[in-house]
Amino acid sequence: MPVDRIHWDDLPLAARNAVEQHTGPVVRAKTAAAGANSGIAATVHTADAILFVKGVPSDHPQARTQQREAAINPYLPPSCPRLLWHVQAAGWDLIGYERILGRHAEYTPGSPDLPLVARALVELQNIPCPDIELKRAEDRWSGYAGLAGIEQLVGDTLLHTDLAPHNMLITTRGHLIDWAWPTRGAAWIDPAVLILRLMEAGHSAPSADAWAREQFPTWAAAPDASVLAFSGANARTWDEIARNDPQVWKKNMSHLAHHWLNYWQSRR
Ligand SMILES: Nc1ncnc2c1ncn2[C@@H]1O[C@H](COP(=O)(O)OP(=O)(O)O)[C@@H](O)[C@H]1O
Ligand SMILES: [Mg+2]
Repeated sequence: MPVDRIHWDDLPLAARNAVEQHTGPVVRAKTAAAGANSGIAATVHTADAILFVKGVPSDHPQARTQQREAAINPYLPPSCPRLLWHVQAAGWDLIGYERILGRHAEYTPGSPDLPLVARALVELQNIPCPDIELKRAEDRWSGYAGLAGIEQLVGDTLLHTDLAPHNMLITTRGHLIDWAWPTRGAAWIDPAVLILRLMEAGHSAPSADAWAREQFPTWAAAPDASVLAFSGANARTWDEIARNDPQVWKKNMSHLAHHWLNYWQSRR
């Protein structure tokens, strides 16, 4: 379950003091409107800098997610915001990022952001996967893929796996944020994840597929049977997400994931 979002001023004084050890005095802060998961997500101003602070209560299951997010940061491509510090104080786990002055990406058909989104993902696809402990795609989706399909997700590419438009900030380029689920796996999995989000924004399955083929060599080369195994597993994952928390957008993602699966099965 997400943490209720609080404002900077609602943090315990000792937690704010611990942050100010790194930043200097905070003069004002503005809570981010988007993103539902973090207990605090705010743009924080000091006398001479602006940064982005994210945090969760240390005893919340999500503190582990935030730990992963901090651990992967040094290995991310240059377009991803740098982690500045990580503190634990007064029952809070807080991380500070370089602030990106951008807006969320627009994924609708014809959007001028799409080439920037593609470039940011290609940049990620081309970096070496760091030699640190990471979740593996075959484990992430093992409960959902058939036993025969699971080995098809194995690979050695660093994947983001949550390529929603609110996790991509746009300036003159695309910046991939919210690294809660870094995963090691087959390179074409991220393009497959992005395709569903393009469909959510109004692309048809064939047009999202064709676009991704042009942008991502890994997608153009993805074996049919492997994509089929993942698409089935991903559809079952979204079914479960929508069942556990039947919000309209989750039910829509589950519907789109099945629509995509049908397309993939029948496209030849
Ligand atoms: N480095 C950053 N600079 C500026 N804004 C950011 C930054 N990181 C996140 N945001 C904003 O805060 C929102 C929530 O952050 P995110 O990392 O996605 O957390 P959540 O886990 O709450 O989804 C993002 O959608 C974006 O609008
Ligand atoms: Mg987010």
